[in-house]
Amino acid sequence: MTRTVIVGSGSEIPPRLVTNAMLSRIMDTSDEWIRERSGVETRYYVEPGTATSDLGVAAAGRALEMAGVRKDEVDLVVFATMTPDHYFPGCSSLLQTKLGLRQIPCFDLRQQCTGFLYGLQLADAHIRAGMARTVLLVGAEVHSGFMPWSCWDYLYGRSETPPSREEHEWITRFRHLTVLFGDAGAAVVLKAADGERGLVDTVLHCDGTDYEKLYVPGTGFKHRPYVSVEQIRAGEHVPSMDGRFVFKAATHSMIEVAREVLDRNGVKVEDLSLVLMHQANMRINEYVQKVLGIPEDRVLHNIHKYGNTTAATIPLLWDEAIRAGRLEPGDLVLLVAFGAGMNWGATLLRA
Ligand code: ACO
Repeated sequence: MTRTVIVGSGSEIPPRLVTNAMLSRIMDTSDEWIRERSGVETRYYVEPGTATSDLGVAAAGRALEMAGVRKDEVDLVVFATMTPDHYFPGCSSLLQTKLGLRQIPCFDLRQQCTGFLYGLQLADAHIRAGMARTVLLVGAEVHSGFMPWSCWDYLYGRSETPPSREEHEWITRFRHLTVLFGDAGAAVVLKAADGERGLVDTVLHCDGTDYEKLYVPGTGFKHRPYVSVEQIRAGEHVPSMDGRFVFKAATHSMIEVAREVLDRNGVKVEDLSLVLMHQANMRINEYVQKVLGIPEDRVLHNIHKYGNTTAATIPLLWDEAIRAGRLEPGDLVLLVAFGAGMNWGATLLRA
């Protein structure tokens, strides 16, 4: 039976390390609050000028290298991001040219934190239908563009001038959101192969009813013009999030979808070698882990290092697991995600 196998992975972490203590210099927050409520300790930001496609290109290069796959062998690209370089074209086109790929089909996905799992499903469908043999799937984000401050030099300790009282208050208004996110890119190479290894099943869900609980209110084509000074003054270019609502929805949906994919494949939690969950909040994942009864040594987290990197979290975890020797060929792995939309899903695969 032809299956879709992850044959290589790679990631790209930008250079600028930002600690919770650094953030507490520009807004009313603390290392203690951020750690306790979210588990985030540090995150990384790109330097100005580095875009999501650049992180994707670097990560994809490493994934191709690990896979031993030549660029001209890639016959489909799927790029998941909610922070594209431009409104259009999407990042997949930019990656195609920057990486020097053939003129193959390139998709962009907008399923936020579940983007990577939607990408796996799309890649798997192409491979099993015989429409592609080698797929490059990328998840990358530059969230630092959302950050509502201009005092970057003070944040990085390059200036002695702190933000004004007004700017400090403005930045603090968005603190429940901004402290959670970081920039990163990660990619996998998927190939058609015969045998037991590979994707077993993916379950995806979407329900747009409560989309306004996590969305960017302004800067969209519902508005005329689609971006205006007024929207920016009102802070409508920054994502708006009802954290408590999202927290509850995420825990409920991740537990349900994990059970759904396990049950329909006759798999028990104890059969799993590793569970990789989207990294939005450590408390969400601890709760999901407890309810599902997943032993501590079967879960891998990296939110403390990178924060929430949206479409990049799961491929980043995968890449870390592979490079750390945490997975043997044939190990059964569960991937679970939830994010804006609301979109959520789970994938079962044999490494
Ligand atoms: N520092 C200090 N205090 C803060 C901060 C901060 N960074 N942020 C909020 N607070 C304060 C609030 O103002 C509030 O103060 P008050 O009691 O005086 O009014 C208090 O802390 C509690 O605020 P809550 O928002 O109720 O805090 P909560 O415990 O819910 O934690 C959090 C907030 C971390 C955002 C949490 O709700 C969460 O993680 N939600 C889910 C996020 C998520 O999963 N997002 C989805 C993925 S993102 C995507 O798909 C793009």
